[in-house]
Amino acid sequence: MRRNVVATVFLLALISSLPALAIDPTTAFEGQRLFVSHCQLCHGPDGKGNGPLAQNLDLSMIDLTLTVRARSETMLRTIITGDGGPIVTGRDRHNLLTDAMPDWGKIFTDSQIDALIAYMRFLGSAKHELLGDPEQGARLYKKYCAVCHGEEGYGDGTMTQLITMEPADHTNSNTMNRLSNDELIEFIYEGNDEYMPAWRGILNQDEVEALVSYIRLLSQ
Ligand code: HEC
Ligand code: HEC
Repeated sequence: MRRNVVATVFLLALISSLPALAIDPTTAFEGQRLFVSHCQLCHGPDGKGNGPLAQNLDLSMIDLTLTVRARSETMLRTIITGDGGPIVTGRDRHNLLTDAMPDWGKIFTDSQIDALIAYMRFLGSAKHELLGDPEQGARLYKKYCAVCHGEEGYGDGTMTQLITMEPADHTNSNTMNRLSNDELIEFIYEGNDEYMPAWRGILNQDEVEALVSYIRLLSQ
């Protein structure tokens, strides 16, 4: 008996100390908010380098959607925080990062930097543009969709414990990338004959576009 208790306590301790299996799926969403407020001035909304400040300052910008893919987490972290000063990157055409990129080390927490990295990786792999406002999408998703699709988009909402159904997993970037924005919008408006409800008449175009953008940021 005692041994069972010890074993259980040990097991619980083990489970709680295991690292989360997947990165927090809302990370790219958090990163998007930070990127919009702090980075797009130079890097542009899509990360391609056409931000308004970069044009004013005549900075020579790189296309993040092309460079970030080849960079390790550690390297990206170093670039963003500025730790270590100018570093040899070895991969880009400059070979050196100039001072034009600000040091964000004192401004962001570690998890905010993780979020920024997740969003830049999203920009590098995304096949479709974000049409609507993801923040609005996040609010609507919690209100209308999470009950089936789950808070984090895995398709495991509370309703799935009551009714047998398999809502789509919105965190799967392969499936999500296969669908165009128009296809997703259409699907949300029309639903299907089974459990996916039709939202036409309940949600307007802006709201559906916002949802599509938020859903895309759940994928990893
Ligand atoms: C004042 C303009 C400016 C702002 C704001 C800015 N950057 Fe930069 N960033 C640059 C410039 C310029 C470069 C290119 C530096 C070079 O090649 O010398 C750069 C380079 C980078 C790189 C390296 C890309 C590569 O792979 O070579 C990353 C990553 C990056 N920035 C992330 C960010 C993030 C994240 C933010 C917001 C928190 C941000 N930047 C905000 C100007 C800016
Ligand atoms: C009552 C449960 C339920 C609710 C609420 C719900 N869904 Fe669904 N949804 C489903 C099911 C079940 C599927 C899978 C349908 C299928 O595969 O035939 C699905 C599929 C989808 C798909 C298709 C994705 C793909 O890969 O084909 C999208 C997009 C979607 N839902 C978006 C939403 C959005 C946005 C909301 C909130 C406005 C929402 N759903 C609310 C049950 C639900």
